Amino acid sequence: MKLCVIPGDGIGQEVIPCAVAVLQHVMPDLEIVEARAGWACFQETGSALPEATVEAIHTCGAALFGAVSSPLHKVEGYRSPIVQLRQRFDLYANLRPTRIAWSLALRWMGRAQSVDLMLVRENTQGLYSGRERIVGDEAIAERVITRAASERIAHVAFSLARERERKTVTIVHKANILPITDGLFRDSVRTVGAQYPEVKINEMLVDTAAMMLASRPGQFDVIVTTNLFGDILSDVASVWGGGLGMAPSLNLGAQVAIAEPVHGSAPDIAGKGIANPCGAILSAALLLRYHWHRPDLADRIERAVYAAIESGVQTPDLGGSATTRAMLEAILQRL
Ligand code: NAI
Ligand code: MG
Repeated sequence: MKLCVIPGDGIGQEVIPCAVAVLQHVMPDLEIVEARAGWACFQETGSALPEATVEAIHTCGAALFGAVSSPLHKVEGYRSPIVQLRQRFDLYANLRPTRIAWSLALRWMGRAQSVDLMLVRENTQGLYSGRERIVGDEAIAERVITRAASERIAHVAFSLARERERKTVTIVHKANILPITDGLFRDSVRTVGAQYPEVKINEMLVDTAAMMLASRPGQFDVIVTTNLFGDILSDVASVWGGGLGMAPSLNLGAQVAIAEPVHGSAPDIAGKGIANPCGAILSAALLLRYHWHRPDLADRIERAVYAAIESGVQTPDLGGSATTRAMLEAILQRL
């Protein structure tokens, strides 16, 4: 098995080596191919995503991506490499699970409920289509929704739901305000749903879904939604799993998969050795489960991560004082 490893910027450089160490622990024969992308790479080479990196991912068929720093203003020639990769490799599904971290949810929210949800985000269209322009004083972003992409993401959501205990898909949209685009999304998902009679379908408006994810997340099983809504709602949901430092994701296409923690490059803590590596490690587990079809190894890694956390080894973002290194050691020990 081959894995292309792209640490990127900031804490990507700190958490990705941890995820690689964990993967190598359970897959001693794993071959690692290092590649570059991101802001530092752009400044040095003039490209945020060198062609050599794209080729390396293509050859390996799987990649682990850290995070990159993106400027908040337009920089000529710079485009976010992860958004480019999603489009280049047609990584149309973004899986973002949240599982309750009991001790953390109790400490922060004063309560915990059984949360085990999978957010399935359409990953190529919506407001991320790259169709943004300015005409005089009018700035326009086109929100593209197609039937084909909506049906494709629906198949991912229903296939996942079929294998889960509660077998329920909630379609999240804003069809009351966006009846044409989100109407098409909702109707396409429902059409596909008819092919999965064992799966129950709910729907919810996105603002209500945000409130429900913040207050009663236990009601959700699989959520399927459009690109931007999925980006935002998965950050809301991540709180129950211990926050951004814990949140994993997998960009999944027909041939290639790229695992990536949900968080960014975290410039405020970069270089201090205190970044939480769990989001990156749990992302590697998603790669094992859904791309390499090794749920046994994925289970082992997830158990080790949660056992380490419940034993009290926690980085500062979780309320503890463990370093990145200590967190990794605790996880390796439990493997
Ligand atoms: P961020 O996710 O980097 O950080 C948000 C907050 O969460 C910060 O206080 C940070 O210290 C904390 N945090 C994040 N991950 C953590 C971890 N593993 N352990 C401990 N604490 C953690 O988001 P922010 O600050 O909005 O963006 C910073 C940069 O990252 C920007 O340049 C942005 O464009 C980029 N970004 C990149 C992403 C990607 O490459 N996929 C995704 C999100 C942001
Ligand atoms: Mg995000």
